[in-house]
Amino acid sequence: MSNTKITTTAPGKIILFGEHAVVYKRPALAVPVTQVNAICHIKPAPLDTGIVLIAPDLNEHYQLSELAANHPLGAVVHHVLNLLQLETEPDLRLTVSSTIPIARGLGSGAAISTALVKGLTDYFKHPMTTQNVSDVVFEIEKIHHGTPSGIDNTVVAFAQPIFFIREQPIERFTVGQPLTLVIADTGIKSPTYKVVGDLRQRWEKDKDYYENYFNQIGNLVLSARQAIETGDITTVGECMAKNQAILEEIGISHPTLNKLIEAALAAGALGAKLSGAGWGGNMIALVKANDAPQIAQTLQTAGAVNTIITTVH
Ligand code: MEV
Repeated sequence: MSNTKITTTAPGKIILFGEHAVVYKRPALAVPVTQVNAICHIKPAPLDTGIVLIAPDLNEHYQLSELAANHPLGAVVHHVLNLLQLETEPDLRLTVSSTIPIARGLGSGAAISTALVKGLTDYFKHPMTTQNVSDVVFEIEKIHHGTPSGIDNTVVAFAQPIFFIREQPIERFTVGQPLTLVIADTGIKSPTYKVVGDLRQRWEKDKDYYENYFNQIGNLVLSARQAIETGDITTVGECMAKNQAILEEIGISHPTLNKLIEAALAAGALGAKLSGAGWGGNMIALVKANDAPQIAQTLQTAGAVNTIITTVH
């Protein structure tokens, strides 16, 4: 039995601008959130015990061979084992944990998959480019989300601010002046596939209506990128308000999100919007650095179950 022990991590993420429209090939901006992360520990196990997968946060403990092919963790492991072309199942103990809340728009699924892919490929000394890691995680996202744009796996795997257009090479964007954000969790779980699937059904029935809004979001993303790059924080905040108005119009927001957004703006935020799939999950508020603790407190008083202050550089 080898003595190799591996630990890998992957950050959470937020979408700054462009969620949902990005599924329809409009651009979007996303950044990693390093205050939360997924962690994977891998160590050898006794001979002939196969792969044991442990998720202590979920109280789960599995033998890989007993898992359904589409089990979120099992699917990642099978995918990587296929890539590595191992003839027999290795004897390993994989422990996966995460501080990223599940189904709240912070990329928990993509982060767990990324940590696992990086862990297994490190363990077997099979180096992969970041793009390859992202591509594997994208395959797993497809099992769970149906029609993901690919933005979550990309920003989590690259762990950098990205300007993303589906099926196009990724671009990094620069940040002219640091952006201080307060991220606030409504506490409402909202699986991405449900919101994306519902919007798709409505889009099928009236494509012109939704395409028009997606175009508006796409244009806002371009304006927001320029404002972020030139350090024009006031315009960034205005773009957030406009993006949120469209997301509300197309039925992606939620009364609790709206309440937190209003509370943040009333407390002096420069802009605020939901982030991710919507219908719950998290909202983000752009704030002056000195105001962040007090706005986080205001959001908790308004009902947020958790807040994170993060700075985008
Ligand atoms: C989810 O983080 C972002 C969505 O745009 C879905 C996707 O891009 O796959 C809602």
